[in-house]
Amino acid sequence: MKVLVKRGEAFQEYEVPRQPSQTVLDVVTYIQRTLDPTLAYRFACRVGMCGSCAMMVNDVPRWTCRTHVDRVVKKDHLTLGPLRNLPVIRDLVVDMREFFDKWARAKGEFRGRLTRQDDFERVPPASPSRKLVDAGIECIGCGVCYAACDVVKWNPDYLGPAALNRAWTLVNDVRDNKSMERLRAVSGDAGCHACHSHVSCTERCPKHLSPTAAIAGLKRSVAKAVLQGDL
Ligand code: SF4
Ligand code: SF4
Ligand code: FES
Repeated sequence: MKVLVKRGEAFQEYEVPRQPSQTVLDVVTYIQRTLDPTLAYRFACRVGMCGSCAMMVNDVPRWTCRTHVDRVVKKDHLTLGPLRNLPVIRDLVVDMREFFDKWARAKGEFRGRLTRQDDFERVPPASPSRKLVDAGIECIGCGVCYAACDVVKWNPDYLGPAALNRAWTLVNDVRDNKSMERLRAVSGDAGCHACHSHVSCTERCPKHLSPTAAIAGLKRSVAKAVLQGDL
């Protein structure tokens, strides 16, 4: 199989043998360990947990440790590149700082009401708010949705699908007491209202989350808070 890897402005070509059940990450690892030790890429868990192995595969953002070559190879060719919409550090490695800075801007950290002296707060699994939290909590921060979003490309200030999904998850968490502050943080020009509901984020999310639905929920909650005079 021919593998073209974007390295800076140019593509470098490698010949990689096909293997049964081979993943795209296996291909990159083979290149780096066998053909070219100077190739830079990032991974940690290899089992779809850490979110660090995402890259562009034939121009589509994907987690590479769980993407089988058989599913994506075209005419015995693969083209690999760094995730879109993020600054490249080197080869296949991008700088995730702005991605996670946006989580902070969207107030993506849990702010509990209780102190360490209190007992645990239990949230019944069947309660509506718990279901909304569970729908978004499994985000692994891979950046695939961020790379898939055209609004991020057009407006680099846009908070993006992952940060907004995180904000919505916390807005629904009954143990958190900073919802209004969070809604304020996501209601500006670069927040939820900038989303055009293109759904590319949801189509691409490897954890089958729906940032599009989360953003729609934020839009409704912001509108409700404005009507009630809370924002
Ligand atoms: S639904 Fe919104 S956040 Fe998701 S890709 Fe489209 S514009 Fe981006
Ligand atoms: S929402 Fe999905 S695609 Fe986006 S960072 Fe989280 S796990 Fe990755
Ligand atoms: S290496 Fe951890 S998600 Fe792929």
